[in-house]
Amino acid sequence: MDLKSLIRDIPDFPKPGIVFRDITTLLNHPQGLRYTIDTLTAKCRDYGLSPDYIVGMESRGFLFGVPLAYQLEAGFIPVRKPGKLPAAVHSIEYDLEYGSDSLEIHQDAVASHHKVLIVDDLIATGGTAKATADLLEKIGCEVLGFAFIIELIDLGGREKLPDLPIITIIDY
Ligand code: PRP
Ligand code: ADE
Repeated sequence: MDLKSLIRDIPDFPKPGIVFRDITTLLNHPQGLRYTIDTLTAKCRDYGLSPDYIVGMESRGFLFGVPLAYQLEAGFIPVRKPGKLPAAVHSIEYDLEYGSDSLEIHQDAVASHHKVLIVDDLIATGGTAKATADLLEKIGCEVLGFAFIIELIDLGGREKLPDLPIITIIDY
């Protein structure tokens, strides 16, 4: 299936010069959505990845992380933007393609003996994924790898990540 044809390109969003890769049109397509989750699942199995938890980043990481967790019989842990999680958090600063922010995870969500897979819709500069990996490593759990639907190759985000499996489906 041509998944790229289901991604909508929006020029100059949210800032001039950024081409926004809009996954809402993929989510809106029943067969495309199913094919995306099935492909992600198959790639994780090909790598032999059996995480205890999928860690998904707000907000679009939630959309793909939860169905992947269901398929892999793992739990799901949200990593959220500041001030959203209600209980005690660990937090870390990170950079975006268009700005900067920080990320938080519940302190009691994961323990040091757990294996986790980091999932997001897209890797651009890699700042979000790197910050999430750093946060999880600080907690002491084992990061098995990363999975993204979309990779923006020219931004070189994967070079920031540790030497672990990086699953992607669509490249730009
Ligand atoms: C987008 C995207 C990734 C991140 C990738 O999220 O969903 O999380 O940026 O960029 P990076 O590789 O340069 O860090 P965004 O922060 O726009 O939040 P949203 O999902 O809530 O829209
Ligand atoms: N997140 C960071 N860069 C992005 C882009 N170009 N399109 C969609 N989401 C993004």
